[in-house]
Amino acid sequence: MGEAVYPVPENWAANALVDEARYFEMYRQSIEDPDAFWAEHGKRIDWIKPFTKVKNTSYHEADFGIRWFEDGSLNLSANCLDRHLATRGDDIAILWEPDSPTEPERRITYRQLHEQVCRFANLLKSRGVKKGERVTIYLPMVPEAAVAMLACARIGAIHSIVFAGFSPDALAGRIIDCDSRIVLTADEGLRGGKKVPLKANVDEALKQCPDVDTVVLLRRTGADVAFVEGRDIEWASAVARQSADCAPEEMSAEDPLFILYTSGSTGKPKGVLHTTGGYAVWASMTHEYVFDYRPGQIYWCAADIGWVTGHSYVVYGPLMNGATTVMFEGVPNFPDPSRFWQVVDKFGVEIFYGAPTALRALMREGDEWVKKTSRQSLRLLGSVGEPINPEAWEWYHKVVGDARCPIVDTWWQTETGGAMITPLPGATPLKPGSASRPFFGVKPALVDNDGNFLDGATDGCLVVTDSWPGQMRTVWGDHERFFQTYFSTFKGLYFTGDGCRRDEDGYYWITGRIDDVINVSGHRMGTAEIESALVAHPKVAEAAVVGMPHDIKGQGIYAFVTCNAEIEPDEALRKELVAWVRHEIGPIATPDVIQFAPGLPKTRSGKIMRRILRKIGENDVSNLGDTSTLADPSVVDNLLANRPQLA
Ligand code: WT7
Repeated sequence: MGEAVYPVPENWAANALVDEARYFEMYRQSIEDPDAFWAEHGKRIDWIKPFTKVKNTSYHEADFGIRWFEDGSLNLSANCLDRHLATRGDDIAILWEPDSPTEPERRITYRQLHEQVCRFANLLKSRGVKKGERVTIYLPMVPEAAVAMLACARIGAIHSIVFAGFSPDALAGRIIDCDSRIVLTADEGLRGGKKVPLKANVDEALKQCPDVDTVVLLRRTGADVAFVEGRDIEWASAVARQSADCAPEEMSAEDPLFILYTSGSTGKPKGVLHTTGGYAVWASMTHEYVFDYRPGQIYWCAADIGWVTGHSYVVYGPLMNGATTVMFEGVPNFPDPSRFWQVVDKFGVEIFYGAPTALRALMREGDEWVKKTSRQSLRLLGSVGEPINPEAWEWYHKVVGDARCPIVDTWWQTETGGAMITPLPGATPLKPGSASRPFFGVKPALVDNDGNFLDGATDGCLVVTDSWPGQMRTVWGDHERFFQTYFSTFKGLYFTGDGCRRDEDGYYWITGRIDDVINVSGHRMGTAEIESALVAHPKVAEAAVVGMPHDIKGQGIYAFVTCNAEIEPDEALRKELVAWVRHEIGPIATPDVIQFAPGLPKTRSGKIMRRILRKIGENDVSNLGDTSTLADPSVVDNLLANRPQLA
């Protein structure tokens, strides 16, 4: 069966920043002479002190290190704000749409945003926040979240945003790991008409964090929340007392910008650290080329700032490019499944960037919800976070985009800072389900399990053979873990954790994680984290978690649980464990299936045979492979006989 190919529309090829020939030319330059290429493109942002060194990187143990533009200095908030004041100070920087369509939107110009950022930066300083210090942000999708990020960048503080859906425990773990003594939060968040008790969660988390001395409290819903005198301060009144003048701190290119925790295959979440110069170049350049962004266009990335997509493509990338960036507080299906497209019509959104999981959920509601909106303003669509299945791609293209808008399916990771494998709308013929070709400067490759390079059309493990400016620099507090996690599986190569197919046209098709990480609704989760939450329950002896196919979420969570000897597992305990995991980690970790099992399949050396559990999770049990090394093969029969009935 031939794959569908969508050629580049003529108007795109003629008017885009790069057409296909230009893409190949620029890509070749970027690979043949990265120093020259990045010396030129590094100038796209404003430097205080221009760099003279460009690339200084090695993936090898002996001289391992990643440095870009290392002798340059800059300030990222100045690149997002000050540089635009003279030319577009009165343009809208942030167009904020609240959760409920009955509440008014907010339109914040670059000038106003600059003022708010300066005041908030001064507030941080007044609380003693210094360059290099970590500031934890636990806020809903409100403009103040962007203000807080930019204020940190302005004074050189390192922000660590914790997604507002995470539990008090998860929040506490992240505060402690990066040793932060200030937390920015709101009374409550508002999503899909439901309230999220953010301040109460912070109060709960801080019982474990004696070093936190300041909580800045934003009033979002006006709910009555606890207020700790001396520790808590009111956002609005504290900011009002501050001066609107705050000179941007001069940062070295390799000074840290932010930490963002992400799940890996082992242990606790890793604090992914991004630095300033390379990240700035990468976020702004990918935003411009991938979305063919031109000043004045209305651009909407529907991601939360709690994820890297929100960092790079709601805030930093667009603002560096002087964009009008839409920030949406709500969810796709509230008050009804037309919500996204009504917001598109309301603001005249030209570029829309969203996650497959939301598209699949909307697709299921039927085309009418889309069709009753105009969407005439849309010219480009984007997808991110997980593989987009061809059915969802076709629906996005035909129904949402009226077969008019190219779709950029962007593959990247928290670790990569920005898009890595992605179509460019004027340059890349599209194949539904493929992230297509590498962005400038990206050298992807496929290797087998022994690290041998594979040529031509093939399946393999996706690696990147050389550094790019937006690459993470370390794991906060654990540089050794950084090296071990990403550069030791295949020596001298960056290992992505993804499996991938390359076709005869050199297009990349990401097939999903090949480590113990699952992707639930575009959210990345370590199975080990969910397992340790489960075994923390007093009635649980052992647990193993695998992914399972899920129509909407992409992957669901399938947990095998062995209870303590005296426990008789029942429906009540199942519910209790689901609630327990939600409480320990957050609602995004809600198990879809819990299967109680008297034992888990183990080798004689006691290692759980995950391969078998994965197959059961995938409902692919006809061939479980070699089970001869199991200590007790009957365990598997029991698992198979007692699989829960799935809808
Ligand atoms: C993992 C990274 C990209 C930022 C948001 C998620 C999967 C991401 C795609 C895509 C297929 C994708 C990969 C990757 N992924 N984008 N377009 N096609 N898979 O960042 O939480 O760090 O997750 O998401 O498996 O490794 P993240």
